[in-house]
Amino acid sequence: MFGPLLVGERVTLRPADDSDPPRFVPWFADMEVTRWLGRRSAAALYQELDFFKKVGESKNDIMWIIDVAGATVGGIGIHEIDWLDAHGVTGILIGDKSYWRQGIASEAMQLRTRYAFRELNLRKLTTEVYVDNVASRRALEKAGYRTVGIQKEHFFSGGGWHDKWIAEVLRADWEKAQPVTVAAG
Ligand SMILES: CC(C)(COP(=O)(O)OP(=O)(O)OC[C@H]1O[C@@H](n2cnc3c(N)ncnc32)[C@H](O)[C@@H]1OP(=O)(O)O)[C@@H](O)C(=O)NCCC(=O)NCCS
Repeated sequence: MFGPLLVGERVTLRPADDSDPPRFVPWFADMEVTRWLGRRSAAALYQELDFFKKVGESKNDIMWIIDVAGATVGGIGIHEIDWLDAHGVTGILIGDKSYWRQGIASEAMQLRTRYAFRELNLRKLTTEVYVDNVASRRALEKAGYRTVGIQKEHFFSGGGWHDKWIAEVLRADWEKAQPVTVAAG
């Protein structure tokens, strides 16, 4: 399924439309974008169309497209959702590199986390990231994710082996970190 419209300060998460699958073709062909991704192969348009159809119909995946001031810059999601045990695995891709390092992932992850806990009633989000992917780790940490462990030499990329950072955020911990709002009256 696709997630509903979530409007942040700069970032808007929105459901996909027909214009989106073609945007992901050049992004997945760019090795700088896929450098720290589990999936590093490129995709043809028919594969992206198929992927969007599958995600859209899936009951255990939620995906949003990331927009910034009218520009579409990437996608973000919660996958492998286990509704009984109330957890899911998160991922993000900012495909338009001109938007890197502007706080977009940080804000998008915070919108996703709030939605997962306050609307979907999930109890935990987990993720797996290359240790070297400092930007992703930092954005995840700011959204409340904490280290579960490191798997040594789990990915091969750029001629070498890289460790994997496994992290999670529990709803109870995330709630504790939210600012207290005082009811009026
Ligand atoms: C990784 C990725 C999501 C980061 O997105 P982003 O919008 O550039 O991240 P942000 O701007 O929110 O930065 C998050 C933090 O990392 C820091 N950061 C960003 N790029 C960095 C870099 N290249 N080196 C070190 N720190 C970096 C930022 O300063 C920020 O920390 P701060 O708030 O303490 O200053 C984006 O580059 C991307 O999608 N890359 C390709 C796909 C990918 O790797 N996805 C994640 C797989 S798990």
